[in-house]
Amino acid sequence: MLVHIKEIVKEAERGGYAVGAFNIHNLESALGVARAANKMKSPAIIQVSEGAIKYMGLKPITHIVSTIAKNIAARVPIALHLDHGSSFDSIFECINSGFTSVHIDASSLPLDENISLTKHVVEVAHSRGVWVQGEVGAMVGGHGDNGKKLKNIPLAEVKDVLEFVKVTKVDTIAAAVGTAHGVYTNEDIKFPLLKEIIGKTKKPFVLHGGSGVADEKVKRAIKEGVDIINIGSDIKIAFCTTLINHCLENKKETDPRKLLAPTIEAVEKVVAGKMKLFGSAGRVKIKEVET
Ligand code: G3H
Ligand code: ZN
Repeated sequence: MLVHIKEIVKEAERGGYAVGAFNIHNLESALGVARAANKMKSPAIIQVSEGAIKYMGLKPITHIVSTIAKNIAARVPIALHLDHGSSFDSIFECINSGFTSVHIDASSLPLDENISLTKHVVEVAHSRGVWVQGEVGAMVGGHGDNGKKLKNIPLAEVKDVLEFVKVTKVDTIAAAVGTAHGVYTNEDIKFPLLKEIIGKTKKPFVLHGGSGVADEKVKRAIKEGVDIINIGSDIKIAFCTTLINHCLENKKETDPRKLLAPTIEAVEKVVAGKMKLFGSAGRVKIKEVET
């Protein structure tokens, strides 16, 4: 079922687990996430980037996610979120389209400009009942990168995060704590920094760059209080690897469904694994109807 993101985040805070915010890129990846949520009895955040919106169209994406949430994942809470929104305009369109959460990512701007744009987004979004995620310390990497090493992974300054949260009044906060977008061999989580940010902001923390982070570190981050973990590249990699292999093995196939069906299963498998790792699996109490 489609719910406001706050319902999912409040439950995660109460239960001491994290919820996955899974990037979808097409119908197949949306189906994979929804099937995993249903099977694992887990809440999920389905998030789309501006790139995904450009590819599918805002209306189609909104309708696909809400229809899938109401049907395939009718028994579990699903929220729709804009990931890395870059401008007031694109955020405003998503709010008008029914998103209950938007991320304004002005982290590459100087802090005062990041604060002023984010504050403006918060004022408008809150007047419409929509949650806002803000970000301090720009994330590095490339979505979908796999197996490379980054030269430098910059970190956020605690004092900047505190000022940002205080002035903007964001609902959730993302900050650079050592992870990167993509799967890199030298990704890490700087736990003293993460701990200080979570302890001092007292806001739900969103860990970006969840792909490529070792399972043990993910578990420790959740113990430290991370509420949302973004997963993009692991989904892209599973989708593309499966599709490429399947096409190479079935070069004469003419039914697109036969080539694409395994990609849904591949996404479902990755997402179900993350739900177990994040502790969100089995959290939705479902009354089984006897037949
Ligand atoms: O906003 C999206 C995420 O931060 C995805 O990061 O590609 O490393 O999973 P990832
Ligand atoms: Zn991100």
